Amino acid sequence: MMSLVERTGWDRRGIEKARALRNRYGPDPLPFSVRGHRYALVLEPEDAHRVLSETPETFTPATPEKRGALAQFQPHGLLISDSGERAARRSLAEDVLDTPQPLHRMAEPLTATVREEARRLLAGSERTGRLTWDDFNAAWWRTVRRIVLGDAARDDETLTAQLQRLRAAANWSVLSPRRKELRTAFLRRVRSYVETAAAPGSQGETGGLASLVARTPAAEGVDPAGQIPHWLFAYDAAGMATMRALALLATHPEQATAAREEARAHDLAGPRELPYLRGCALESVRLWPTTPLILRESNQETTWRGGTVPAHTTFALYTPYLHRGEPAKSYGDSFAPHLWTEETAHEARANPALLPFSSGAAGCPGENLVLLTTSTFLEELLSHHAYTLASHPELRPTAPVPATLDHFALRFRVHRDG
Ligand code: HEM
Repeated sequence: MMSLVERTGWDRRGIEKARALRNRYGPDPLPFSVRGHRYALVLEPEDAHRVLSETPETFTPATPEKRGALAQFQPHGLLISDSGERAARRSLAEDVLDTPQPLHRMAEPLTATVREEARRLLAGSERTGRLTWDDFNAAWWRTVRRIVLGDAARDDETLTAQLQRLRAAANWSVLSPRRKELRTAFLRRVRSYVETAAAPGSQGETGGLASLVARTPAAEGVDPAGQIPHWLFAYDAAGMATMRALALLATHPEQATAAREEARAHDLAGPRELPYLRGCALESVRLWPTTPLILRESNQETTWRGGTVPAHTTFALYTPYLHRGEPAKSYGDSFAPHLWTEETAHEARANPALLPFSSGAAGCPGENLVLLTTSTFLEELLSHHAYTLASHPELRPTAPVPATLDHFALRFRVHRDG
């Protein structure tokens, strides 16, 4: 599917279509309906900001589409929680994920895990001279299982396979029946890691985030372990962002020099903030948003410049246009990690069109942890190796960054460097 989208230029056409609609009908949320349900397409940055900052009071993230899909594998997940349960589940997520902290309180063991797995991946690449998506993805999932569930889960490929099957069912949620047995087996497996992490004499911090979940007091109805499936699922997007960032760096020499300098600027193994590499990951998500439609449903009639929109309308924030069209200002189709580094970060953060991790009270609570993981992985990849992109000739420093990048097809030639 991804390859088809890439070959047909579907994403580019989507951005152009959004621009044409905005020019024709003006900036107000644009109403349309699908199978009798009301939607409004949001293409104006200020309106996107309003929808996200009035979440969850006026707009709920738990839209019917998300409930249908995500309940397949995370029936108690924060993103699909009712207003009654949302606050306590959000508070648990922010606590365990250390939402405001660039360096998570477990950054030391977490970054050691990331480096170890990246080094093992590179040992294989040195033998073959190449790096493919499949090689990377296997290493990424070993890393993710260790970070989220602890070292004991490192080789639990069954768990990942169960999640992928439930996700596939989630993609067809309208047509697909609930996979109850599979879901029960998957959730039981997740809970067993939390129980192991909670047991006296367990491995402590090598129990990953599960050890924090086990130790964090939670109000009734929160289902702390039930929050973990979303984290596992969302780390998949972080893997895509990492490999796509590597593809950008392999094809943009100026940015690669800056990234390499940052990666090679120290010999110590401790956690680091790595602002430029974080910028590369943010750019990867800006250019290829892993959530192309951020959805919110209004619980009351809302008033806009041109009139009112009835309650129970799903507002769809179309991020490919917001991130690359006119609202993105001059950055549009270019790879600009410096946009997110300290001097200009306030400008990027203040631009309501740029929403790689969404924003507001239901924005991604994992953003800092994701950026810590991806930047450390990239740091290790770039420390002693150089990459040539052997797939995707369309990715070039002089051409606009393509609107789609099929990450499954990514292939690099790798050689030792430094
Ligand atoms: C590149 C990786 C990621 C990106 C781009 C990303 C982006 C986002 C976005 C756009 C949303 C809002 C979704 C919506 O409103 O429908 C979101 C929500 C969320 N993300 Fe992430 N995310 C990533 C990885 C992660 C990870 C690894 C975790 C946990 C460890 C995480 C935890 C969450 C949670 C719990 C929510 C729901 C927040 C709420 O409803 O209050 N995310 N993320």
